[in-house]
Amino acid sequence: MTRIPWWRHAVVYEVYVRSFADSDGDGEGDLQGIRSRLGHLRDLGVDALWLTPFYTSPLADGGYDVADYRDVDPRFGTLHDFDALVADAHAHGLRLIIDIVPNHSSDRHPWFREALAAPPGSPARSRYIFRPGRPGERPGEIQPPNDWPSAFGGPAWTRVDDGEWYLHLYAREQPDFNWRNPEVRSEFEEILRFWLDRGVDGFRIDVAAGLVKDESLRDLNGRDSRALNGPVYSRPEVHDVYRGWRRILDEYDGDRMAIGEVWTDGPEDLALYLRPDELHQVFQFDLQLAPWSAAAFREVIDAALKAVAPTGTAPTWVLSSHDSIRHVTRYERPESVPGIGHARARAALLLLLALPGSAYLYQGEELGLPEVTDLPDEARQDPIFERTNGELAGRDGCRVPLPWSGDTEPYGFSPGGVRPWLPMPARWAPMTAQAQASDPSSMLTWYRDALALRRRLLDDLPEDIDWLDSPGTALCFRRGPLICALNCGENPVRLPPGTPLLTSTPLYGDLLPGNSAAWLTPS
Ligand code: BGC
Repeated sequence: MTRIPWWRHAVVYEVYVRSFADSDGDGEGDLQGIRSRLGHLRDLGVDALWLTPFYTSPLADGGYDVADYRDVDPRFGTLHDFDALVADAHAHGLRLIIDIVPNHSSDRHPWFREALAAPPGSPARSRYIFRPGRPGERPGEIQPPNDWPSAFGGPAWTRVDDGEWYLHLYAREQPDFNWRNPEVRSEFEEILRFWLDRGVDGFRIDVAAGLVKDESLRDLNGRDSRALNGPVYSRPEVHDVYRGWRRILDEYDGDRMAIGEVWTDGPEDLALYLRPDELHQVFQFDLQLAPWSAAAFREVIDAALKAVAPTGTAPTWVLSSHDSIRHVTRYERPESVPGIGHARARAALLLLLALPGSAYLYQGEELGLPEVTDLPDEARQDPIFERTNGELAGRDGCRVPLPWSGDTEPYGFSPGGVRPWLPMPARWAPMTAQAQASDPSSMLTWYRDALALRRRLLDDLPEDIDWLDSPGTALCFRRGPLICALNCGENPVRLPPGTPLLTSTPLYGDLLPGNSAAWLTPS
């Protein structure tokens, strides 16, 4: 029998480090805080943690602006704390994946400081992407070197004092590396080894498709920067980088893995990253992007399975992350129906966990946390808010610290009396982990039950699914000994014959109510 690597069907829990648990009372989460809460994750029943960046950083983009790839930011702890966390996570039976940010550094990274101090054309500048500007339409006017936009708003170029411009696909504090420079490649290979040697089980690769840009940096001319065969993302040369990384991962024991954050235009493109000598997994975001609709879910599930089928890898599924509006809130439509978002989120969990492959959960979804939509402007920290002059609220609303216990802010997130880095809503007392832990009807209990049952069934579940007949507002599939039915409509639908194992709302006989899901064993 072929040995199945741990990640292939894992449930991975994303820890947004700054907002998970604060041990030292500075209002920001830290590595010791994570250590102190590993019991929560073990009891929840996940297989692995993915830690968002905890490296030395000015936090211009919440840590996705790294100033030192080989150290822990003092706000988050020390390398010693990191080693202790790896050991403790493993002792709890949890694997640990860390985020690696290779597309860009912080503008405070020593290499970028060196580049700014060096003249145009120097080796220090060639670690990043510096170019002269181009003449504008008006006499004397200088424009950026091309028309690429920053993903956070405004142009992707910033001009420096001597007149050259540097590229940043994200904030101006995140200059893009030049991956055509071999020094950048070898530096990152060393960084991977540094963390592998410390015992990490894998990496989540940030902006994985963006590393190598088209050499000519040609204009987009109105095309979407993600467009297939465009100059920005998924250039053929990026695959060579991952072949090198795969060789390194394979040198280590213990099924070390890498998952790429790849936003692509099509399944063919995605499959390229999953060739046997490249990445183990890529995120498939379509479920997260789909509306609450059985037809839409069915379509994205088929497409996701089809995309990975030729590669021999298993799919990945995700409903929320630190970059998106929490799904309880996305599903809260119409808002006039109280609790509809939570009912749908419960149901969606059964869908997510019944599918073959691995599921990535985002911290707080097990508590049913909604998006915080009423943060005061002065509290907002996401560069998207500032770079769009407040037109876009940004991603702070899904990054509010977790409520652990108690009745008032900081709800056990920080030691008493400390103000967390983002304000926590007054209405969160009933949502703390402590309040939910012993409530059989809570979201936390629901997550624990569903994860425990998935774990029990997993060994018998094949990797393919068969769609069963269902009304248009519902979907129903069989995966070996498991049937999963999801009713996205308002009216009850009849379930196929079987014995219910878990249902998100009580059934009426063999009828599944609207906005609910059920797992059954076929009879
Ligand atoms: C991360 C974001 C980050 C961006 C730039 C993303 O895809 O998930 O949080 O802002 O990369 O690093």
